[in-house]
Amino acid sequence: MKNVLVTGGAGFIGSNFIRYILDGDKVDFVLNLDLLTYAGNLENLKSVESDPRYCFVKGDIRDRDLLRSLFEKYNFDTVIHFAAESHVDRSIVDPGIFLSTNVQGTQALLDTAKAHWKLKPDDKYSREYRAGVRYLQVSTDEVYGALEKTGMFTEETPLAPNSPYSASKASADLLVRAYYQTYGLPINITRCSNNYGPYQFPEKLIPLMIHNAQQDKPLPVYGDGMQIRDWLHVKDHCTAIYTVLEKGIPGEVYNIGGNNEKANLEIVRIILTELNKPESLITYVKDRPGHDRRYAIDNTKITSQLGWKPLYSFEAGIHETVAWYLNHLEWVNRITSGAYQSYYHEMYGNS
Ligand code: NAD
Ligand code: DAU
Repeated sequence: MKNVLVTGGAGFIGSNFIRYILDGDKVDFVLNLDLLTYAGNLENLKSVESDPRYCFVKGDIRDRDLLRSLFEKYNFDTVIHFAAESHVDRSIVDPGIFLSTNVQGTQALLDTAKAHWKLKPDDKYSREYRAGVRYLQVSTDEVYGALEKTGMFTEETPLAPNSPYSASKASADLLVRAYYQTYGLPINITRCSNNYGPYQFPEKLIPLMIHNAQQDKPLPVYGDGMQIRDWLHVKDHCTAIYTVLEKGIPGEVYNIGGNNEKANLEIVRIILTELNKPESLITYVKDRPGHDRRYAIDNTKITSQLGWKPLYSFEAGIHETVAWYLNHLEWVNRITSGAYQSYYHEMYGNS
């Protein structure tokens, strides 16, 4: 892994990942291609912007001419595709941009990598030809749909997405798989559970609740608050992606999870305790349409085959995360313009 293209590197996970791979000598060069939508923020990368191995280009993954020229100029051997519309509630309000960015954007990247790496259908079994290049699709556990009280998602679980967001991610995964099967493009797909940690846009549960509680504003809990997510610290996600790039077998899917299932209400209560705020701030609101009840990841494949494991305990991770947001109030206020509360209002108005 020498010349790396990271898409969506100005977002939450992408920016954490770029800082992680530039720490030490994991790569020679990283180009961050990001459109800087509402979720992209170059402030997240201040600490690396003067690193000579780092370069930023503002641009759209759907722009094929731009992709072609970047591949020609920098001769990438590795693509790590984070760029996406990532918020489920927004996808309920406006699905179109999710299909365009997440599906067509992925196809543009796949086509460009395939053309640049000169892969042809009969190269599928030619290890030599594919050696040294890799395309990694950053996907999500939401492509598997929802679980009841028991069971876990394995890599064999059929895809059954329930939201426009997860349907767009599942569609992209199928395209990535097809480019491996048809053209021998050396791909991996990683499917990760809910991330938390520094630099997450405060529309997602944990930063939104910290932001609101800190200002004594209501905490909007959807439905009964007993939906379960499996939480993973973003830094553990970064080490997992790097492990897959280093050791993953081309064509394989790897689930990434933290073995850390928690009900939303439990998360909200932990945050209130951390901030010493009253439970009376909890406000039950109408449920998210098609709300997935429970996610749980079986991470046996990546732990047993590739030797990765998460290092953060949730207790330490959430404590550190709350402290980070309290120390970065200006960052939060700048990106939310002080007025942002929750996308819930976009779904239902103020009722
Ligand atoms: P994010 O919303 O914080 O960041 C997305 C980034 O993509 C932003 O910087 C945005 O500007 C950029 N972007 C959007 N459209 C673009 C386009 N057309 N061209 C170029 N850049 C564009 O997202 P995130 O939470 O960091 O998620 C990153 C990836 O990880 C996504 O693919 C998401 O589906 C996946 N994922 C996220 C989680 C999670 O808990 N956040 C869990 C599993 C998987
Ligand atoms: O599972 C991985 C996915 O996790 C990623 O693929 C997505 O990109 C990421 O956004 C996240 O999706 P979720 O829908 O699980 O995350 P969100 O933070 O929006 O919501 C987490 C849970 O909290 C979910 O059950 C909905 C609930 N919730 C969320 C918000 C924003 C609330 O109860 N109130 C809220 O205000």
